[in-house]
Amino acid sequence: MAEVLENCEIGPGCFRMRLADANVARSARPGQFVHVRLPGSSLDPLLRRPFSVCLADPGEGTLLVLYQVVGRGTQMLAKIRPGDYLNVLGPLGRGFDMPPADGKGDVALVAGGLGIAPLIMLSRDLSRAGVGCSFLVGGRSQDLLVGVDLVPCAGAGLAATPRRDLQVVTEDGSIGRQGLVTDALDDLLRDGGARCVYACGPVGMLREVGRLGEAHRVPVQVSLEERMACGLGACLGCAVKARPGRGGRETYLRVCVDGPVFWAGEVDLDGIA
Ligand SMILES: Cc1cc2nc3c(=O)[nH]c(=O)nc-3n(C[C@H](O)[C@H](O)[C@H](O)COP(=O)(O)OP(=O)(O)OC[C@H]3O[C@@H](n4cnc5c(N)ncnc54)[C@H](O)[C@@H]3O)c2cc1C
Ligand code: FES
Repeated sequence: MAEVLENCEIGPGCFRMRLADANVARSARPGQFVHVRLPGSSLDPLLRRPFSVCLADPGEGTLLVLYQVVGRGTQMLAKIRPGDYLNVLGPLGRGFDMPPADGKGDVALVAGGLGIAPLIMLSRDLSRAGVGCSFLVGGRSQDLLVGVDLVPCAGAGLAATPRRDLQVVTEDGSIGRQGLVTDALDDLLRDGGARCVYACGPVGMLREVGRLGEAHRVPVQVSLEERMACGLGACLGCAVKARPGRGGRETYLRVCVDGPVFWAGEVDLDGIA
């Protein structure tokens, strides 16, 4: 059981929740997730809900989760108050692979909307490892860009002096460059600005990131979000098609244990709705 320390709205329907959970805080790696049972004695909702670990602080024994209210479970989560307890299972899943230590050059992190969540801890660990990164953050408009202030050194967030390594892109041009975050990635890769790309966001964005990675011959890791039941590899509810291997045999991967992070070449991104 994890005590809720903070649960505040940071954008329209977007919340930041801080939990006290020494075990998850100590062992979570970037890209892993927690599976949260909603409070109450009833069986509704029956299933846990998965959320990426956005930041974990082993010293404090706390972790941060960013979430958006989309349905019944997240509506219930938004009503939780500090001092309440949640049943938290985790950390679960396979996180991001760090780039080879002997490689040269920066890496790129590409976030679409709340896809920024797992990339924040990744960017912290990359900077601690001395790896330079360009963080590209995209969203429909300024008010839907949340979590940017958590990017290491982003300081005052969107209002801060523009940084070479943090680029904001909005579809309506309300802040930053107007367009799609993948346009900014295309430009970066054309300039040879990244030796590896990490991405999380809507599946359409991930498809385009995968395509750009192939076109520019840069390896890409994507974090997928699929509906989950057990979260432990047993029910096959989260299966996605793998890219056909040798012999063209059809195989499947479980997002909860084989992922949620995959190399773009491992999964059939076109087959995901
Ligand atoms: C590994 C992983 C990490 C995730 N991390 C985050 C995160 O950091 N922040 C965040 O806000 N959300 C995250 N999600 C998505 C989150 O789990 C769902 O939004 C949540 O479970 C919806 O619950 P609900 O009861 O409110 O919605 P429901 O009533 O169950 O569904 C409402 C809507 O949300 C969609 N939905 C439901 N579950 C998922 C899902 N797993 N993925 C995508 N869409 C879904 C449904 O299709 C439906 O349109 C993550 C999902 C996975 C698999
Ligand atoms: S959610 Fe049950 S196997 Fe992945």
